[in-house]
Amino acid sequence: MEREGTNYATSKVKPTLNKYGWVIEQLDPLCAEFFTMVPSIQAPIADFGCGYGYSSKKLLELGATVISNDLDDRHMEDLRVTVNPDHADRLTIMSGNVADLDIKAESLGGILAVNWIHFLPTAEAIRDVLDKFYRWLAPGGILCVTAVQLIQYVEPEIYKKYMKGRGKKEWIGWVTQEEMREDMKDNLPSTICAIDEVILRRELLRVGFSVDKCFPYSAPDVYEDDYIKDFAVGAIASKPVI
Ligand SMILES: C[S@@+](CC[C@H](N)C(=O)[O-])C[C@H]1O[C@@H](n2cnc3c(N)ncnc32)[C@H](O)[C@@H]1O
Repeated sequence: MEREGTNYATSKVKPTLNKYGWVIEQLDPLCAEFFTMVPSIQAPIADFGCGYGYSSKKLLELGATVISNDLDDRHMEDLRVTVNPDHADRLTIMSGNVADLDIKAESLGGILAVNWIHFLPTAEAIRDVLDKFYRWLAPGGILCVTAVQLIQYVEPEIYKKYMKGRGKKEWIGWVTQEEMREDMKDNLPSTICAIDEVILRRELLRVGFSVDKCFPYSAPDVYEDDYIKDFAVGAIASKPVI
């Protein structure tokens, strides 16, 4: 578990402008699976917390009608000016906190929420967004949600300290800035939640989702070293048709 520096394959990783970590310009395994379903999704697909909109552009390329959202309007402006003009009529941009968005119940065919729910500061905030995702999806709608694992952001000894509580407590916990890696913390928010596959599955089931897949995965193309086998955790879940 030793490593020096961040060792990113830099062309795919870009810092956010609002200290919410780094966007990764490639589809992880769960997103790749979600994208295979996109052609069969008729209703709009929301890409929440989309950063500069890499995945939103991929959805547009596949012919989807897309709602793109991010907390930071500078990220959204980047998407506005770089989107393929031929696709712009299928794109709606909604800046701001996803929890404050006004979206009609059962109006979405799919939701991407990639690489940010671990930045939510409390269990209530995580539950609130998952509740909203469920409400906004039409029956049969698909959610793809991923969270980067704590080991990315802290030194191994801090990680081990948190992992002692794994399986014993409802939540493993939230690390604060003081515990984050020196070479990363300047571009991270004030807390990060440790989310593993057990917690993610439990929270999705609590809301009412069917969990089709939920597993940790590595990112061999993102890190030049491969010491982290569990780069992130993600799930594909669906809202049951009752
Ligand atoms: C690490 S980036 C990931 C971006 C993109 N989804 C990806 O996978 O490349 C996290 C993004 O989530 C956004 N974000 C974090 N919390 C959010 C929230 N509550 N509502 C909307 N966007 C949020 C941040 O502004 C940031 O751009």
